[in-house]
Amino acid sequence: MEHTSEHIQWHPSKIARQDRHRLNAHRSCVLWLTGLSGSGKSTLAYETERRLHGMKIRSYVLDGDNLRHGLNGDLGFSAEHRKENIRRTSEVARLLVDAGIITIIALISPYRADRELARSLFGEGEFIEAYVDCPLQVCEQRDPKGLYKKARAGIIPGFTGISAPYEAPLHPEIVIPSARQSLAESVDQIIDCLLSLRMFP
Ligand code: PPS
Repeated sequence: MEHTSEHIQWHPSKIARQDRHRLNAHRSCVLWLTGLSGSGKSTLAYETERRLHGMKIRSYVLDGDNLRHGLNGDLGFSAEHRKENIRRTSEVARLLVDAGIITIIALISPYRADRELARSLFGEGEFIEAYVDCPLQVCEQRDPKGLYKKARAGIIPGFTGISAPYEAPLHPEIVIPSARQSLAESVDQIIDCLLSLRMFP
């Protein structure tokens, strides 16, 4: 996959990251939500975006399901395709963070190594891994899209948590027990974390 040519140059911008942060009156980072299907990642991502918007903070959600309609529409769910899904999404996130936007990712991103690769693209304190920690039993009970039922029936092969692995983060910046607290409490937890990291005043 390495096609970078020696004949391709990097053109630096005349606007520094700090200048963009000054204009926005807040810093930028990536908030990476990882967790099982049905754990509440997308709901939490979009509610956090809504809350930040209300605080006049620029943010944007990159949601796995949505990206698979376009940019990642050619990818399936093999380990290799999930890795590529995460690589592309983290490269887009890198651009958005550079543009000064708090970028909220909602991807199952089941493999630790893939998430670590994503983390390596960002500077110190710029990558916040948030583990949306919801027991498999609860996700399966919720089954909002009926996918667990299909996975159990063998209709969907390689389904995360059933027939494909999910490797929980070992040292996430935040753990969100989404089955044990309200959506508002989960968003509060994220905002508090961003505040403690001085993303905004
Ligand atoms: S990954 O693992 O990060 O590449 O997955 P992601 O891009 O977040 O896409 C997850 C959504 O795809 C649907 N889906 C599956 N999930 C897991 N395993 C398999 N085999 C699968 N097939 C389809 C499912 O709706 C996931 O959405 P969420 O929002 O996580 O429930």
